Amino acid sequence: MLAPIFTRQMAAVPVARGKAEHDMQFEITPNTAPLPEDQRIEAFKALGFGTLFTDHMAVVRWTEGKGWHSAQITARAPFALDPAASVLHYAQEIFEGMKAYRHEGGRVVLFRPEENARRFNESARRMAMPQLPEEVFLEAVDKLIAQDLKWVPEGEGSLYLRPFMFASEAFLGVRPAKEYIFCVIASPVGPYFKGGAKAVTIWTSQGYTRAAAGGTGAAKCGGNYAASLIAQAEAAAHGCDQVAFLDARENRWIEELGGMNVFFVFKDGSIITPPLQGTILPGITRKSLLQLAQDAGITITERLYSFDEWKADAASGNLAEAFACGTAAVVAGIGKVKHTGGEFLVGDGQTGPVTLRLREALVGLQRGQTNDPYGWVRPVELA
Ligand code: PLP
Ligand code: COI
Repeated sequence: MLAPIFTRQMAAVPVARGKAEHDMQFEITPNTAPLPEDQRIEAFKALGFGTLFTDHMAVVRWTEGKGWHSAQITARAPFALDPAASVLHYAQEIFEGMKAYRHEGGRVVLFRPEENARRFNESARRMAMPQLPEEVFLEAVDKLIAQDLKWVPEGEGSLYLRPFMFASEAFLGVRPAKEYIFCVIASPVGPYFKGGAKAVTIWTSQGYTRAAAGGTGAAKCGGNYAASLIAQAEAAAHGCDQVAFLDARENRWIEELGGMNVFFVFKDGSIITPPLQGTILPGITRKSLLQLAQDAGITITERLYSFDEWKADAASGNLAEAFACGTAAVVAGIGKVKHTGGEFLVGDGQTGPVTLRLREALVGLQRGQTNDPYGWVRPVELA
């Protein structure tokens, strides 16, 4: 019998041993040697992705029997880790990705941060790690942004936040660790893809898969990315920006990309995206686009879509557009698909009009250019 897929019900297995510590106070120790202002301004002129970091980080520790403690905002610095720390051996690590935006007028906001806090705990459950109270997750993010406020770019840039948690206990036996560190770092970013708004090229991996039923595909754990790197390197060797993974059982159904969910737009205007069955990451961008598309009157279906259908529909013209989406990538048109048997264009190889329309709707909300009927945009607490 196949292992059951990762569901909320399974997630209730009592591996979450965190004690809620709602009264925790963050101790704030400002960095005494921040990056000089002129260097920061210079670095802001050409923002890439994930190479520039702010002056501070948030750190909270968890110890079995004690729960969460020692919350602090402090100078960004390396960790001192015992070489036997569990994470270095058994990869007990999870992370999140979210962005803070500076609106015209100076207001700094986050986009659906509660969704990240919730997903973080879903990932924690799957990886037998303690639950982090959502308020602590959100407070750590807010306090770090408040401390590094000048690092939130204006215009098209944003401040990418990377909350993560890892097993820090020094112990070589294989079991869930008894000590963890939760940390948030921040990085001012521009576009994820070097080509900017240009449609991206996708390599379809037919040899490597990302996740199987019962595995960790729906969790945002570092191990998923480690396992994807060889396929991503294969994609790069074929001149592609991202790799698309097919399902592990039949090697047939399109699941998602190395770091993004995927959508297909047909010539009748309808859209398909692969369903959440436990093997792909439940993207917050994906969820938001499903809502935006539905509200725009677009017929959007979560269903399995095969690589053979992708090829055939692209050839017949039935498929008009495809796009990738995620926090880092936002919404990126897919222009070309390569695979071991050749390559094909999607539509005319450019980002299509439906993709652009959905991108504009999402970005407009995130950037405060349109009103927010959903309450998705949350101002950062600066006090
Ligand atoms: N799928 C994978 C594997 C990802 O790494 C990401 C990015 O976080 C996504 C999908 C999109 O998720 P989100 O929209 O929440 O950023
Ligand atoms: C994100 O979009 O936040 C991710 O974690 C994906 C990765 C490609 C940076």
